[in-house]
Amino acid sequence: MKDVIAAEADLAIRLVRDRDDDYARLVDWRNSPHVREWWDPDEPPVTRDRVIEELGLRGGGDGQTISCIIELAGEPVGFIQFYPWAAEEAYLAEVGLSLPEGAWGLDIFIGDSGLAGRGIGARAVRLLSDHLFADESATVVALITEATNARSHAAYRHAGMRVAGEPFLDTDSRAGQRVESILMIRERPDGTAGGR
Ligand SMILES: CC(C)(COP(=O)(O)OP(=O)(O)OC[C@H]1O[C@@H](n2cnc3c(N)ncnc32)[C@H](O)[C@@H]1OP(=O)(O)O)[C@@H](O)C(=O)NCCC(=O)NCCS
Repeated sequence: MKDVIAAEADLAIRLVRDRDDDYARLVDWRNSPHVREWWDPDEPPVTRDRVIEELGLRGGGDGQTISCIIELAGEPVGFIQFYPWAAEEAYLAEVGLSLPEGAWGLDIFIGDSGLAGRGIGARAVRLLSDHLFADESATVVALITEATNARSHAAYRHAGMRVAGEPFLDTDSRAGQRVESILMIRERPDGTAGGR
C-alpha cells in the first residue's frame, strides 16, 4: 500500500509508520485530556506497548483497520483510522445496527488541542471518505460518535455526514456506564454503486 492514502492542498493522510517518532506522538496524543475525554475514557492511559499492539504494525491488531497520521503542511497533527464495517459484524449486532454492504467506517482525533476547531477534522473526514468512495468502492461511510460530542457532530456535518437513526447504547463505557452514541453517515456523492 502506498504511504500517502489521500492528499488535498496542505492536508495529507499517510500511513502510521513502524517508527519511534510515530509511536511517541500517538502515545502523547492519546493521553492528552481532550482526546481521553472522548476516546476510551474508562481505559487507563496508553503505554507505548499498548499503542504498538493496537496498531498491529508488528503483528497483532485486527488486520482490517488502516491507521493513519493526518499531516498539515507536512506536520503531523492527528490520527485517523478506517476499516470495512464488514469486519465489525459482532459489534454491529451487539449494538443493534445494520449497515449496507460495502460500508466503511472511520475514527479520528486531532492530537494537539490547540489545533482543534480549525476545520482540520472536517477536511480530513471529507478527504478520507472521498478516498473510500473512489478507491475502495465504499457504498456509504459511517461512523459512531457519542451523542454528547457536539464538536465532533459539527465537524462531521461539515464533512457531508448526517445523523442516521436513533441514539443507541454503545459498548464503550464512561464511568462504567455504556455511553449513548449516534451513527452518522455520508452517502456516495453521486448516489451510484462503487467502481474502481
Ligand atoms: C472531533 C474532532 C476530530 C473534530 O475535528 P476539529 O478539527 O476539531 O473540527 P472542525 O474544526 O473541523 O469542526 C469543529 C466544529 O465544531 C464546532 N464546535 C467547537 N466546539 C464545539 C462545542 N463545544 N459544541 C458544538 N460545536 C462545537 C466548531 O465551531 C466547528 O463548527 P463550525 O465550523 O460550524 O463553527 C476534534 O475536535 C477532536 O479530536 N476532538 C477530541 C477527540 C474526539 O472527540 N474525537 C472524535 C471521537 S468520535
